[in-house]
Amino acid sequence: INNLKNRNFLKLLDFTPEEINQLLDLAASLKKAKYDGSEKPLLSGKNIALIFEKASTRTRCAFEVAAYDQGARVTYLGPSGSQIGQKETMKDTARVLGRMYDGIEYRGFGQDIVEELGTFAGVPVWNGLTNEFHPTQILADFLTMKEHSIKPLSEVKFCYLGDARNNMGNSLMVGAAKLGMDFRAAAPKACQPAEELQAECREIATQTDGKITITEDVATAVKDCDFLYTDVWVSMGEPDEVWQERIKLLLPYQVNKKAMELTGNPDVKFLHCLPAFHNRDTKVGEQIYQKFGLEAMEVTEEVFESKASLVFDEAENRMHTIKAVMVATLA
Ligand code: CP
Ligand code: NVA
Repeated sequence: INNLKNRNFLKLLDFTPEEINQLLDLAASLKKAKYDGSEKPLLSGKNIALIFEKASTRTRCAFEVAAYDQGARVTYLGPSGSQIGQKETMKDTARVLGRMYDGIEYRGFGQDIVEELGTFAGVPVWNGLTNEFHPTQILADFLTMKEHSIKPLSEVKFCYLGDARNNMGNSLMVGAAKLGMDFRAAAPKACQPAEELQAECREIATQTDGKITITEDVATAVKDCDFLYTDVWVSMGEPDEVWQERIKLLLPYQVNKKAMELTGNPDVKFLHCLPAFHNRDTKVGEQIYQKFGLEAMEVTEEVFESKASLVFDEAENRMHTIKAVMVATLA
């Protein structure tokens, strides 16, 4: 067993397959302990800072509940109200918070910002989403796959459809390569992961016996898949102007009944990191609907609400997996 104490958790590229599997196993055992009522608080007396330069429901709540379950205390620093991003650099912020806190979560913009925080804080720093990567989400996704598949992860086939160049597309590809999975991304050229990251993942996959397929063709990409995965077509921090073009590009990659059927697998399951657009029932959903119609959402209501949809198991697993990351790096 590798000792992850004092390590940062900034991107999956920094971790070995064994370490990632170890975090998944720890998450499963912490989940079981919570259900059993036998959870032991391993983080008593620890203080944790949660920096959110972008909005969040799941990630913030997962960090807070996980910390409280384990006996730690948290401070939430939201998009406004602190000196971060205004009067003070991340390098200085890191050295200040590192004197007071035992661990720091950061959600925000460039990966370079969380890397800088990780370099200068002197305590473990965890990436709660950047423009480039969302590594804690992948742990929740893989734990959910393990719970709903009889196969080991190394035999799982899954396809990500949509904006494969965003934090989710990038991190799923890295995670799949690390664990030797059969990963496909179906996306138009403009929304495929950067060549350099693709090359890095293909190199990792040669070591792990994984398979990486990036294609514009939905039918070949989804064939025989165990899971289809999608995410919003426009991510936080992107300008509203990209909607029009993104929708035009990504319409053929919507996860709908036809895409599910094209897998040829009657037991195919649906995953989404959430929040998702699947109907008009939210403010943004209504805006998209008014402008572009229901076809413009990344997943249909029919699939989202179907028995194949595991999205709320996945959301719950954010908490168990984030707890594992904190326990492994702090306890
Ligand atoms: N999946 C996810 O990161 O959700 P939040 O934006 O609500 O944290
Ligand atoms: N790609 C999305 C993920 C949200 C959890 C975003 O960055 O907004």
